[in-house]
Amino acid sequence: MPRTLFVTTALPYANGSFHIGHIMEYIQADIWVRAMRMAGHTVHFVGADDTHGAPIMLKAEAEGITPQQLVARIAGERPQYLNGFHIAFDHWHSTDSPENVELSQDIYRQLRAANLIETREIEQFFDPVKGMFLPDRYIKGECPKCHAKDQYGDSCEVCGAVYAPTDLVDPYSTLTKARPILKKSDHFFFKLSDPRCVEFLQEWTTGANAQGSKRLQTEVLAKTREWLGNGDGQANLGDWDISRDAPYFGIEIPDAPGKYFYVWLDAPIGYLASLKAYCNKIGLDFNALIDPASTTEQVHFIGKDIVYFHALFWPATLKFSGRKVPDQLNVHGFITVSGEKMSKSRGTGISPLRYLELGMNAEWMRYYIAAKLNARVEDIDFNPDDFVARVNSDLVGKYVNIASRAANFISKYFDGELGYSGDAPKLSAHWQSATDAIQADIEAREFGRAIREIMAHADQINQAFDAAQPWLIAKTLAQADAAQRAALQHICSSALAGFKALSVMLSPILPVLSQRVATELFGLTRNFVWSDAGVLPTRINAFKHLMQRVEPTMLDALFEAPAAELASDVTPALVPGGEPIADIITIDDFVKIDLRVARIVNCEHVEGSTKLLRLTLDVGEGRHRNVFSGIKSAYEPAQLIGRLTALVANLAPRKMKFGVSEGMVLAASHADDKTDAGIYLLDPASGAHPGMRIR
Ligand code: MSP
Ligand code: ZN
Repeated sequence: MPRTLFVTTALPYANGSFHIGHIMEYIQADIWVRAMRMAGHTVHFVGADDTHGAPIMLKAEAEGITPQQLVARIAGERPQYLNGFHIAFDHWHSTDSPENVELSQDIYRQLRAANLIETREIEQFFDPVKGMFLPDRYIKGECPKCHAKDQYGDSCEVCGAVYAPTDLVDPYSTLTKARPILKKSDHFFFKLSDPRCVEFLQEWTTGANAQGSKRLQTEVLAKTREWLGNGDGQANLGDWDISRDAPYFGIEIPDAPGKYFYVWLDAPIGYLASLKAYCNKIGLDFNALIDPASTTEQVHFIGKDIVYFHALFWPATLKFSGRKVPDQLNVHGFITVSGEKMSKSRGTGISPLRYLELGMNAEWMRYYIAAKLNARVEDIDFNPDDFVARVNSDLVGKYVNIASRAANFISKYFDGELGYSGDAPKLSAHWQSATDAIQADIEAREFGRAIREIMAHADQINQAFDAAQPWLIAKTLAQADAAQRAALQHICSSALAGFKALSVMLSPILPVLSQRVATELFGLTRNFVWSDAGVLPTRINAFKHLMQRVEPTMLDALFEAPAAELASDVTPALVPGGEPIADIITIDDFVKIDLRVARIVNCEHVEGSTKLLRLTLDVGEGRHRNVFSGIKSAYEPAQLIGRLTALVANLAPRKMKFGVSEGMVLAASHADDKTDAGIYLLDPASGAHPGMRIR
């Protein structure tokens, strides 16, 4: 029976580039989706950027752009990764979209109508300088237990103590260094502790439907037991704070000015928003797909760190807003690189973009990741030596090799015609049932097992080919009798029938290669489907080279990636002053900026300006430049006359209220000048003279 599926991957935060962890998740989901489609099922596979929340707002602010601009820049990068790794989402959307605003507000109203929203006043740390409530991650201070300095608001990295931000000794805001004050505010809570929610979640996680459909993996089910208790009504479920105060980049809460939905409320709703936009695009009935009575299966692929949101909040949100609940949660572990955990902020590991730029084949990565994955919540490791070995010895050495060995004999001696002298129906049945087993493995997300089985088949095909020694027959073919000719044709045809079946099995994993095999070698006009495996091929076209081996030096190049290529800030490190390091530029970007040594030949106050000084600069051009600089709070004009400084000399002249500014002098400061840390004009060391380029 053909099924209809609505499949998503977790929505990545839109303040950083994709890292290998994202790509791994997409490869897993994409393989599964392709396998379902090969079986004739209809799949709507959608993703989106998760755009809201404080970190994105603050990062944009530090860069001097709007959150929308930041999100748009990141969204603009997505296609090169997704296309590059052959990840075939039907649609990619954004949580900062009209669909998501409408759905989130509707869902909230429905939850409120169901009496599941409650207002409570809570007291929280507030940064009086920044004028905002501080998420825990922006509060640091001294550990109340061991007195280690600069510990985060939730736990101490030195002694391991766990506490609340309010327990910190001498707390400070990492944004401004100011001491936070306690401030009260009304928050909205989703009453998950309501008996209706507890009962529903109990049923959703453990009920008859849950088991039959393999809704949750064993490990995930075990986790939900910790949260929900064992059905004895002793759930540990707290109510969920779903609101945040302005300033916040998010969706406004209806009838509550200045209040926004916490990002995790609207993020999963983004799954629906993306599906809705997709439905509108292609003319499908969105509401029918998500109706509680719909037979469309809703499947989410996510990492182990966000199970809580997807196994509790999300099903409850859907259920009590009168919508269809998820059918399956497929949780994967984390990918490490050479045994090392990736740092979200430093983005070590492998840069997916660099991988592609080096000309490395995306299907090597898909194959390798598939070989490592299983249906459990286990971490996997990318190991460079293992990668080279599996791609070169297994994928190319065992699988691709079959075709190159057998096809040449068929083209050369049989004009492309295949022929089987043995029991052809038996051969056909063998390959179809072997492929059915692989299909079942892939549908069960046992990709590693599937690949082990596929390679075992490849070994058998190669062994049978070697044992038959077709090259000996070929050598004496001129004198050979018809039986020997038929034997040669049979040996090669059987190997190619096997190759075809293996190509069908590998189709979800190697979509580009398998399509080439289907069309170029076997002359099909479409991609493989599962049932092609048992159809013995009758002729082939000339064999064309299919896949290169990995050069081990490519791996060296991949790991030598300059910091620029590796940076994929998800949570940028906040340097003191609260300003994260800006996005990476290349040397080509940098040389566009022409920095020169300038002498300040005159400096004066600007009438009517509280911030600016007027500088007259000699940049060795035989004329003077007029430059305004916002350094009045730090310098008296007389202090500056005669000094050298650094100037951005090729900045477009800017017309200001007080005249035209022909460049910009460089000074150090914190982003937020309210910290009073000061402003420091840059000085070249003595000996430099006006006009010298700074590089
Ligand atoms: N924005 C949230 C998800 C909202 S879903 C409604 C988020 N974003 S994320 O960018 O941090 O992570 C996106 C996905 O990548 C998550 O499923 C996460 O588990 C996964 N991974 C992040 N690091 C990973 C690895 N190192 N390895 C594998 N997957 C990892 O969470
Ligand atoms: Zn401590």
